[in-house]
Amino acid sequence: METRGPRIIVALDYPEAGSAEAFVRTLDASLCRLKVGKELFTAAGPKFVEGLVRQGFDVFLDLKFHDIPNTVAQACKSTARLGVWMLNVHALGGRGMLSAAREAVDSIAGPRPHLIAVTLLTSMTAEDLVDLGIEGGVEDSVSRLAALSARCGLDGVVCSAQEASRLRAERGGQFLLVTPGIRLAGEGAQDQKRVTTARDAIEMGASYLVMGRSITRAKEPNAVLRATIQAIASAGSA
Ligand code: C5P
Repeated sequence: METRGPRIIVALDYPEAGSAEAFVRTLDASLCRLKVGKELFTAAGPKFVEGLVRQGFDVFLDLKFHDIPNTVAQACKSTARLGVWMLNVHALGGRGMLSAAREAVDSIAGPRPHLIAVTLLTSMTAEDLVDLGIEGGVEDSVSRLAALSARCGLDGVVCSAQEASRLRAERGGQFLLVTPGIRLAGEGAQDQKRVTTARDAIEMGASYLVMGRSITRAKEPNAVLRATIQAIASAGSA
């Protein structure tokens, strides 16, 4: 599995560039990568992302594209041109859309960003799947969508730590598993339903960990990152 460099991706869940920049200025770029999602991207835009890249951060642009293949392909090209390290699409867009995204990212000159998929949103329940006419329950649907993503050449998926063990066994060692829902030992879950410590998530097969508030609301973010890196280093598969 390609996991050179920091395995923690800090989610910049801020409403605008100013507060995100103030936090980023406190960070040691050698300790983490950064995730920019829909809230910050729609407020701060591509120039903000390019600024993070210029500062030496690896950026995961988490825009979860889901549209017709041509539109997603063009959106992936625009994203890759920003110099991001990782981007994502919804696996529910289907084979044509996933393959178009793969080809689009491969057509860009320069370093190739990781292209991963969201299988099912972790907010979705078995009841939601019935509403949508999707058969087989949440776990089997996640496995099926991860397999489809792999067949279309995607580099991995976003998944919960609980899904990671099964997906690691099914998809093998090279497939990237990017796992949110991470909390420090002894910390509350906040609005996440199921949380896992960084060490446990790595032991369950996660490649990268997405951590938001545990880092962004810490008094000393770099100290929390260093402690978490140390905890991960003692995990079996690290
Ligand atoms: O603050 P917290 O650590 O809960 O933030 C987690 C980050 O991961 C947020 O940016 C959230 O949108 C994202 N995420 C998640 N669960 C998913 C997918 C993404 O919490 N299933």
